[in-house]
Amino acid sequence: MAQRLLTFEIFRYNPASPEILPRLQEFHLEETQGMTLFIALNRLREEQDPSLMFDFVCRAAVCGSCAILINGRPGLACKTLTHDLPDKIVLMPLPVFKLVGDLSVDTGVWFRHLNERTEAWIHTDKIFDRQGPEDRMDNPLAHQIYEAERCIECGTCIAACATANMRADFLGAAGLNRIARFLIDPRDERSPRQVFEVVGTDEGVFGCVGLMACDDLCPMEIPLQAQLAHVRRKMALAALRKKK
Ligand code: SF4
Ligand code: FES
Repeated sequence: MAQRLLTFEIFRYNPASPEILPRLQEFHLEETQGMTLFIALNRLREEQDPSLMFDFVCRAAVCGSCAILINGRPGLACKTLTHDLPDKIVLMPLPVFKLVGDLSVDTGVWFRHLNERTEAWIHTDKIFDRQGPEDRMDNPLAHQIYEAERCIECGTCIAACATANMRADFLGAAGLNRIARFLIDPRDERSPRQVFEVVGTDEGVFGCVGLMACDDLCPMEIPLQAQLAHVRRKMALAALRKKK
């Protein structure tokens, strides 16, 4: 099969040098077998422009740091084969998050804020006994919690979300998935009513307009709409009880 010559148009802008305006820079690269966007970007940086900024750590869809906009759709660079893309590939940084430079954004601050807002830790009055036996948990329940825990905080669902793009304080699918994780966990003693105080708003569970891009694009295939439906049901019940 003939080797393709790929054309990349890559967003370039460094907020530290605002005098150079944002632009798309064109690069060309011969496609190789099994090439991912991660490989292509590294080759472009090594062979053509050492100043190109993008993020990666694991190369294996584990760390969540390489998410970018690929021909308009958010996705992981290390998981995307050039073979599945047309000859021309336009790469942009994820929207919503603070731009570090070129394709690199700061998802860390956003997710730390999310964890603080949702108080994403087990709330309990129980004193931890280091010497005591482990609390047992049924496998199906542990599996349900694990399902939500698989989030790698890549930001794809946030970048793909119309509400998150319009409303800076929207928790988004990643946030609602986090809430679902603690609602399911019996070790967390917060009542649904207490959780409602945090997410029972338009910035929380009622801001989703159901376009489902998060569910379609999550690279970990977390069933985000099902998680959202679970949280919504709990919150609607908590709201009804509050009214009585
Ligand atoms: S829920 Fe999925 S798309 Fe969203 S941050 Fe987590 S892994 Fe990424
Ligand atoms: S480099 Fe870690 S998810 Fe892509």
